[in-house]
Amino acid sequence: MAEPFDPFRYAHEHRREVVWLSQNTNHLVPPEVVRGAMETAIAERRYEGYPRATGEPELLELVERDLGLRGLPAFLTGGGTEALYMITRALLGPGDEVIASDPSYLIIHRFIELAGATPVCVDIYRPPFRLTADAIAERIGPRTKAILLIDPLNPLGSGYPREEVRAIAELAHDRRLTLVNDVTYRDFSEGHALAAEFAPEQTVTVWSVSKNCGLAGLRLGGFSALPELSKRIARFNTNDLGVNILAQVAALAALRTKPSWIGEVVRTTRANGRRVHEVGLGVAGVTAPIAPSRANMTILDIGATGLAPEAVQEELLRRHGVFVRSGSYLSPSHGRQFVRVSFSNPPAEIERFAAAFPQAMAALAGRPVAAR
Ligand SMILES: Cc1ncc(COP(=O)(O)O)c(C=O)c1O
Repeated sequence: MAEPFDPFRYAHEHRREVVWLSQNTNHLVPPEVVRGAMETAIAERRYEGYPRATGEPELLELVERDLGLRGLPAFLTGGGTEALYMITRALLGPGDEVIASDPSYLIIHRFIELAGATPVCVDIYRPPFRLTADAIAERIGPRTKAILLIDPLNPLGSGYPREEVRAIAELAHDRRLTLVNDVTYRDFSEGHALAAEFAPEQTVTVWSVSKNCGLAGLRLGGFSALPELSKRIARFNTNDLGVNILAQVAALAALRTKPSWIGEVVRTTRANGRRVHEVGLGVAGVTAPIAPSRANMTILDIGATGLAPEAVQEELLRRHGVFVRSGSYLSPSHGRQFVRVSFSNPPAEIERFAAAFPQAMAALAGRPVAAR
């Protein structure tokens, strides 16, 4: 029997030719920002020794300053993913419930389940395509322990207005719930508000340098919380000997210089997002329900075309070298309706998508490419 197509295996095997619009990674940060710092660290063979267990002090200071969360110390982990694992392990137990959404970044839901708890999902695949304080309040029950607030949200690219963040934070505070505020994509969202500003005792903020600083491959992120909550979570730290020193050096260099390049990265990302929507909407039956995106990814709803998102993913990747993601790993209820496209990429790569998407959709539908 033929093995099912593995898009990641294929994409990694062809990684130099493939346009990566699949993991919300950021390919727009000027490479010289981190190259020199990493080269120096390699020349000094810093990788031979263990780093300071708690991390480079200047890096901790920069993270705190960058988030604007003074007095909420940063704890470094191997990517935001590890922080999310530690948080769920430390704060949840069998029978607990966490209010979350569908669609969502479902890896976190898996961690919730590993702790023996259950994600209670609000279906948000309708306007405003995000949680609301009212929808959360309706689901709070005697077993509710936490709320998962991913802002902006992967995969939809929807974001939370400041007043909604405040309302959700106040709800968490009043009902004594932990608020897990995942702000991995915060730099792409204009006017972004941190829940910790409104409910510092309740909130654990999960951050990452994977997407804003373009360092996904180095695996560095963390969480920030008040010392008492931070200590409870840190019991589950496995990086007793510190996180990767080269990642810390790169993140230091990126955060030191971020004010000088982040504006241009965000501007290009936004323009790319508009282009992706325009291309999507040019194909009959495709809609872009969340426009503009407040992150560096969006979804194109292909439900009305009758095509399977896995088929679109495979056609684009194999025939055109353009890697987007089918929605199924991001939504049990609606994943068969959409593909996710990320766009912190050079505009020329977005043009590869622009050329490929109408062709792929027409080929799968057995139609000639429509004139646009
Ligand atoms: C919402 C969200 N949180 C966390 C992560 C994990 O990021 P990392 O482990 O690279 O820091 C991702 C990655 O895509 C994400 O989309």
